Amino acid sequence: MAQTMKAIVLDGIKKTLVWMEVPIPKLEKGEALVRTKAAAFNRRDWWIQQGQYAGLKFPIILGSDGAGIVEAVAGDAGQAWIGKEVIINPSIAWGDREAVQQKAFHILGLPQDGTFAQYVRVPVENLHEKPRHLTFEEAAALPLGGLTAYRALFRRAELKAGDKVLVVGVGGGVATFALQLAVHAGADAYVTSSKVSKIERAMALGAKGGVRYTDDGWSETLKEKVGGFDVIVDSALGDGFAHYLDLANPGGRIVFFGGTAGNIPELNGRQIFWKQLSLLGTTMGSPTDFRNMLEFVEHHQIKPVIDSVHPIQEAEEAIRKMTESSQFGKIVLKLE
Ligand SMILES: NC(=O)c1ccc[n+]([C@@H]2O[C@H](COP(=O)([O-])OP(=O)(O)OC[C@H]3O[C@@H](n4cnc5c(N)ncnc54)[C@H](OP(=O)(O)O)[C@@H]3O)[C@@H](O)[C@H]2O)c1
Repeated sequence: MAQTMKAIVLDGIKKTLVWMEVPIPKLEKGEALVRTKAAAFNRRDWWIQQGQYAGLKFPIILGSDGAGIVEAVAGDAGQAWIGKEVIINPSIAWGDREAVQQKAFHILGLPQDGTFAQYVRVPVENLHEKPRHLTFEEAAALPLGGLTAYRALFRRAELKAGDKVLVVGVGGGVATFALQLAVHAGADAYVTSSKVSKIERAMALGAKGGVRYTDDGWSETLKEKVGGFDVIVDSALGDGFAHYLDLANPGGRIVFFGGTAGNIPELNGRQIFWKQLSLLGTTMGSPTDFRNMLEFVEHHQIKPVIDSVHPIQEAEEAIRKMTESSQFGKIVLKLE
């Protein structure tokens, strides 16, 4: 086997993503080498390129999402994976507790090199068979966003059929999964977005309606239309967050995992305790969450929404789409 491979390397803050020759990763016992067939962007990759992520280290091969074929496994256990088509769980070393990840937990693609490469090294326990109804590109779009959305909705916010759910900023990768999962769980889903065209796309995926969060009075309009929400899923924080206390039904759950629009503004604590609201932080998910997410996706034959597919050599052009947030769904990279 060759000693080198091609990979997308980021060599510093705000540097261009470069397709270049690097050594093939060396395996430690219990690890597998996956020949990547497709990978996908998350906002995380963009934050890292912008220098706005904890624990930066360069050079780094980005990429938390990927699917491919297992080429080699180090150690006796796991040899049966060789030759299998797999999807990778990017949540590494979660630990034993379902409630929270252990200190050693990390996400594929920083500090450990990620999936934007011809080969990626991952623990065998992070391999899962690729769902049969998904192509490699569709499978690569699923892991990080699907996992985060699944845990947010079902483990943290305990979403049930018939609940009214609001998905904020539906154009986002995780948000699009949250919408799809909520609709398939039998919830009544509504969305917000900066663009009418994205609300329309969300409605084609089963959303019952939506408003632009950039319009004055958006939360009052939504309240008039819908009444209130049992679950609100947010990845933005920022000033909009204060409106969720009005929009939530008594007993409502507000679950969040990102801060794209800044921090949480001053909140009216009395509203939180009087309405018995739960403010729930969530991050990625446990191995059980990942398995449950895959089962749910296979049971409902859900296909990730793909914004666009690019040859991996064009990763730099592809990541620039995230600067404008013009995408709806996932931006995927395809390898030969
Ligand atoms: N903790 C975790 O485990 C975890 C996991 C995944 C992601 N995240 C974080 O969650 C966030 C979303 O990640 P992603 O990969 O889904 O990103 P993404 O695909 O880039 O989504 C960004 C979307 O956020 C929405 N948005 C931007 N500003 C907003 C605002 N002021 N109010 C409401 N919505 C706003 C926009 O939706 P419209 O286009 O519809 O306007 C935009 O498309 C990021 O901050 C990311 O770092 C955290």
